[in-house]
Amino acid sequence: MKMKVLVADAFPEKYLDEFKEMGLEVIYSPKAGENDLPEAAKEVDILVVRSTVVNSKTIQDSKNLNLIIRAGAGVNNIDVSAANQKGIYVANCPGMNSIAVAELAIGLMISLDRRIPSNVIDFKNGVWNKGEYSKAEGLYGKTLAIIGVGAIGKEVAKRALAMGMNVYGKDISRIEGVAIKDFSEMDQILPMADVISIHLPSTPQTKGLFDKKMFSYLKKGALLINTARAEVIDEDAMIEAINEKSIRVALDVFKGEPEDKKGTVTSKLQNNPNVYVTHHIGASTEQAQNAVAEETVRIIKQYIESGLIAHWVNRAKITDAKYQLVVKHFDRPGVLASILHVIRQGNINIEEIENIIFQGGVVACCTMKLKSEVTPEMLKEMKENADVISISFMAL
Ligand code: 3PG
Repeated sequence: MKMKVLVADAFPEKYLDEFKEMGLEVIYSPKAGENDLPEAAKEVDILVVRSTVVNSKTIQDSKNLNLIIRAGAGVNNIDVSAANQKGIYVANCPGMNSIAVAELAIGLMISLDRRIPSNVIDFKNGVWNKGEYSKAEGLYGKTLAIIGVGAIGKEVAKRALAMGMNVYGKDISRIEGVAIKDFSEMDQILPMADVISIHLPSTPQTKGLFDKKMFSYLKKGALLINTARAEVIDEDAMIEAINEKSIRVALDVFKGEPEDKKGTVTSKLQNNPNVYVTHHIGASTEQAQNAVAEETVRIIKQYIESGLIAHWVNRAKITDAKYQLVVKHFDRPGVLASILHVIRQGNINIEEIENIIFQGGVVACCTMKLKSEVTPEMLKEMKENADVISISFMAL
């Protein structure tokens, strides 16, 4: 039976053919939303989404789901904890749309400084206001604070340096050959920054990071850009800072963003002349979407061919393992079974295990990460197997 992949979001169609060439049955539902997914994903093996929400019901109701790919960077639209409970892999495509997001961030920076959207709206409404719109500051020589210097933040830094800005990055001083200035404390950089660009994922640590206190550090008239995640900013605190400190804001993400690709939108930011909002288009260039699609194809291909998951985000980074046992052995049937038997007798939990083979297939090496200690008697018993070459045991 063919493996099924459901692509539940807009995806460049030429890459769907690549899934078919891999022998997959492809279901393409670009308009599927959060509430359609529990039914749509019930029988599929692989689910590919962009911003479509994969909630716990979708995960719980799925019968065959083994891999969810976020065709993009942020996985906050996927209930990763629910996936953990069912042993479903979650992967993403980091870095593939960084340039596109950085280009938008720079575009928003210039838009805020020169008030380009307001210029355009006025013109369309028959209003001419050269006097007012000639009041821009200019960005050359201005101080930019990049909050989050990952793949996207780095691309923003390179472009801002090229524009002659004075660039600071949080906890980083070098990016591929170019030097930026390092800062670690927000209360030091924010009062100096003319422009702030946020490039942080949505995590419990970043949720509401830009709160009342953080906005109190901002310079009067500062420009703030958020092309990352809405949750990083406390919207009410932001509105207060707009009113009280004349800061101006450009957002590609905001509270209550519609899930659909087309429809209506309501937000309290709509009538605020100091806020520009784009339609969460940071990653949506042809180049970026192709790069993300290519990476998605690569992840699925590797998974089918080797079982390995590239950019696997829900693999435990820290386990309860406290000890490591390494057994070098002849590659014959039953050797590992005899070792595992001893471990079983000792009621020891194996957290991770890997068996690799040397060229020629004569000798193999098995590395196990264990939760509790193996006794000298148990090690002695393991060594009694004539096919065991050597054993090493250490605390981690
Ligand atoms: C991402 O996390 O990659 C961006 O927010 C892009 O989201 P999108 O794929 O829904 O455009």
